[in-house]
Amino acid sequence: MLYNLRNDGPKNTFDPSCKRDPDTTFGHDYFDGLRERGYGGYKYDGRWKEISKRIVERYHLKAPAKVLDIGCAKGFFLLDMMSLYPGIEAWGVDTSKYAVSQAPKEVQKNIHLVDQMKIPFKDGEFDFVMSVNTLHWVTPEKVRPALKEMMRVGKKNFFLQVDAYHNEEEKRRLLAWAPSVSTLFSVEEWVNLFNEVGYKGDYYWTII
Ligand SMILES: C[S@@+](CC[C@H](N)C(=O)[O-])C[C@H]1O[C@@H](n2cnc3c(N)ncnc32)[C@H](O)[C@@H]1O
Repeated sequence: MLYNLRNDGPKNTFDPSCKRDPDTTFGHDYFDGLRERGYGGYKYDGRWKEISKRIVERYHLKAPAKVLDIGCAKGFFLLDMMSLYPGIEAWGVDTSKYAVSQAPKEVQKNIHLVDQMKIPFKDGEFDFVMSVNTLHWVTPEKVRPALKEMMRVGKKNFFLQVDAYHNEEEKRRLLAWAPSVSTLFSVEEWVNLFNEVGYKGDYYWTII
């Protein structure tokens, strides 16, 4: 169901006439370069602590639960989840060598530098699987298999967030924000795709 796990508000401070050129290699510039190139500096700030609490409550997680973050970047969610809940094991996958090299040393061993299309874990291994703003970085023909791969490694608790739009104005803003995003779907197209592959987990939209 639609669920705003991160309590996201509208990004209405974004000026769509400005030229953005995100670093699609997900290297230094994407995470720690200028804002036009990506995050504009992704430093540890504990932002995943509140989200970890909401996850544990909503999905009734208890030690020794295992959770997975697909597209975990610098692994900050893993750090926050495991420091708040020492009995919970948090794992991550990401293809960015740069982001993973910047992960706190406590969580480095819990991150696999692999593509979301082939997650190196067994079927149903995780009590909770999350993917935030990562699924739309595969091309449209790979979106279904990637989502099925996410579903494969989880039991029943999932949260997925993707870039999306409701109308032409939101589409225009999204294209200005992320001109090179690989899969650009409307809310309706995403929901149809979820139904088609049988995705029954929670989801939310990043609307620019
Ligand atoms: C917009 S960032 C989101 C990071 C994090 N989930 C968050 O919400 O802050 C997208 C992440 O997906 C990763 N990524 C991109 N393509 C990927 C792929 N095919 N498989 C795994 N990770 C990927 C990038 O390296 C980056 O860390």
